[in-house]
Amino acid sequence: MRTQVAIIGAGPSGLLLGQLLHAAGIDNIVVERQSGDYVLGRIRAGVLEQVTMDLLAQAGVDARAKAEGLPHDGIELLFKGARHRIDMHALTGGKRVTVYGQTEVTRDLMEARAAKGLTTVYSAANVSLHDFDGQHPRVRYEKDGATHEIECDYIAGCDGYHGVSRASVPPGAIRLYEKVYPFGWLGVLADVPPVSHELIYANTSRGFALCSMRSATRSRYYVQVPVEEKVERWSDEAFWDELRARLDPEAREHLVTGPSLEKSIAPLRSFVAEPMRFGRLFLAGDAAHIVPPTGAKGLNLAAADVGYLSQAFIHHYRDHSPSALDRYSDLCLRRVWKAERFSWWFTSLMHRFPDTGEFGQKIQEAELDYLAHSQAAATSLAENYVGLPLESF
Ligand code: APR
Ligand code: PHB
Repeated sequence: MRTQVAIIGAGPSGLLLGQLLHAAGIDNIVVERQSGDYVLGRIRAGVLEQVTMDLLAQAGVDARAKAEGLPHDGIELLFKGARHRIDMHALTGGKRVTVYGQTEVTRDLMEARAAKGLTTVYSAANVSLHDFDGQHPRVRYEKDGATHEIECDYIAGCDGYHGVSRASVPPGAIRLYEKVYPFGWLGVLADVPPVSHELIYANTSRGFALCSMRSATRSRYYVQVPVEEKVERWSDEAFWDELRARLDPEAREHLVTGPSLEKSIAPLRSFVAEPMRFGRLFLAGDAAHIVPPTGAKGLNLAAADVGYLSQAFIHHYRDHSPSALDRYSDLCLRRVWKAERFSWWFTSLMHRFPDTGEFGQKIQEAELDYLAHSQAAATSLAENYVGLPLESF
């Protein structure tokens, strides 16, 4: 097989890149280790920046996100037992976010790809990358007992944190930056109406909590737990009790509980790999960087990466200008590090850390009070939450 761009991974990065390239007439094949159903079984965050919505529109895959997504103009910060609204819409000159699950984004992208008849190889085993430091890269994989090879001009490594792409780069050619947090998020998805019509981010003496949603009838809730906690130890009832204990009296009263559809614990990590390009291999999304979920930047960063990468390929193939490909890594990393900073800051502000004690809690409360009452402070939060603009090449 031969293609222009071989894309490793059928998560949101790989699938969105595939659609953006196809829309620009650039041929691509997606190679995914798992089955399509497995990919769709993963529950991830659900807040889309306008930049992400615009990229979905450019890819022709925004119809359902627009029709069914919930526009959100603000968020609520809960601390010292009371809620304070951050009016993102007013503070950013009219910007907002759309609440729409990553699983649904992935489903829409998969369906659009299938409808166009584009090649996606699912359940590809032992995927390996070759000769991306030369002129003729190749991707090899095994499927149904046979070995297959794709010849391509470029490889896009969109295969997440545990993928083969970043691991294929010689260690001396890559620099890794990492921060691991001493807690995780225990998350529950349930078919119950959301406790409030906006997201509530709670800082409490028992730890962080987040009230989010997927629709008017489906809620997503999280509580901070120690990193070594096991999900088996949490009955639904224990989860609801703990969440309730972290809410304000009004939310406590309005909380509707029900059986969990999904329950899992996610560790929190900040991670960046630099640079994001090695010869003819380009990394995008979780393959290149991870943010802790506070602020829901993971999917949005992945979308921005592939937005830049598709532009760079368009400059290369259509305008015969290679300089955009040369600038891809630097341009991405500038925005990546700003989202890393924001996600780290919001995580540090909202969680209980084992070693900071009561002084740390007082400092957090002072900063939250400042955010709730200073337009300057709130504007910075709002500007980052709705998403920083993309630069142009
Ligand atoms: N070969 C082929 N595919 C692979 C390989 C491999 N060796 N390793 C991993 N994959 C696949 C995974 O099975 C997965 O479907 O790559 C895909 C990567 O998808 P994601 O992990 O969702 O990463 P990405 O598409 O960059 O999306 C980023 O997902 O993890 C969240 O917070 C993150 O929201 C962000 C988004
Ligand atoms: C979610 O709905 O899963 C979600 C929302 C906001 C966040 C993180 C996760 O900051």
